[in-house]
Amino acid sequence: MTKTALITGASSGIGREIAKNLSKKGFKVILCARREDRLTELASELKTESRIIICDLSRREECFRVYEEVKGEKISVLINNAGFGKVGTFADIPLDTELKMIDTNITAVHILTKLFLKDFINADRGYIMNVASSAGLMNGGPLMAAYYATKAYVVDLTCAISQELKDAGSKVHICALCPGPVDTEFNSVADCRFTVKAISAKYCSDKAVDGMFAKKALIIPENTIKAMYTASRLLPRSLVLKVTGKIQQKKTEQ
Ligand SMILES: NC(=O)c1ccc[n+]([C@@H]2O[C@H](COP(=O)([O-])OP(=O)(O)OC[C@H]3O[C@@H](n4cnc5c(N)ncnc54)[C@H](OP(=O)(O)O)[C@@H]3O)[C@@H](O)[C@H]2O)c1
Repeated sequence: MTKTALITGASSGIGREIAKNLSKKGFKVILCARREDRLTELASELKTESRIIICDLSRREECFRVYEEVKGEKISVLINNAGFGKVGTFADIPLDTELKMIDTNITAVHILTKLFLKDFINADRGYIMNVASSAGLMNGGPLMAAYYATKAYVVDLTCAISQELKDAGSKVHICALCPGPVDTEFNSVADCRFTVKAISAKYCSDKAVDGMFAKKALIIPENTIKAMYTASRLLPRSLVLKVTGKIQQKKTEQ
């Protein structure tokens, strides 16, 4: 039987590499994003069957449309990856940008997780990966306040659902991917530069897919980020916020 995966934000970066990885594993892939040319190009490179859906997931009705278009296709893997960030002080970043970020990073992930999870639970199989970020593990991020908060939502929502599924003895698996810096188009959209070496989108995606199929609930691809996460849980929140703010500041200075 054909295995089918749906990947949001497949036109670039991490989503594009996850789509390639799953295609190599024999999945039919359904590729979602706004840029049609990018999705068409990716589809033409893949060896397995694929389909593209052009959608703006910052619009709620588009999230429901995507679900309606694919719900008969027995999808068994959902990758909620589409998202973006913006650097700046909370007072300076335009409200419209942040509301669009909340709609894309939180509301779309929430809607698609809800709709697909119900089907997966009924079928008692399926995998959902919600692409969060190390930003979601840090208890807040000055100069990227809204972005960090959106990713904390994704981490908390996903971990709670994961526990519910375990408690129910379900075969459905959900996980949150929490990478640090990854070399993608994220920075040009967010208006920043990384101060530490970024991992490649392929490395991140390979770790992510391996972790998902190994049924990890929280996937952190880099050991340095794992160490930072552990340290952040031991240190006072005020200190963690100060250090995170300094790191964010450097990203805007270069
Ligand atoms: N790069 C990093 O350092 C990093 C670290 C941790 C987590 N992340 C997370 O990883 C995910 C992927 O980001 P990336 O680094 O791969 O960045 P990217 O190269 O900019 O890719 C972002 C993807 O999201 C899609 N997207 C954005 N807004 C959308 C919308 N309204 N509707 C539909 N699709 C939309 C984009 O497609 P279109 O523009 O074609 O619509 C693109 O395919 C994001 O959730 C990001 O927060 C990134």
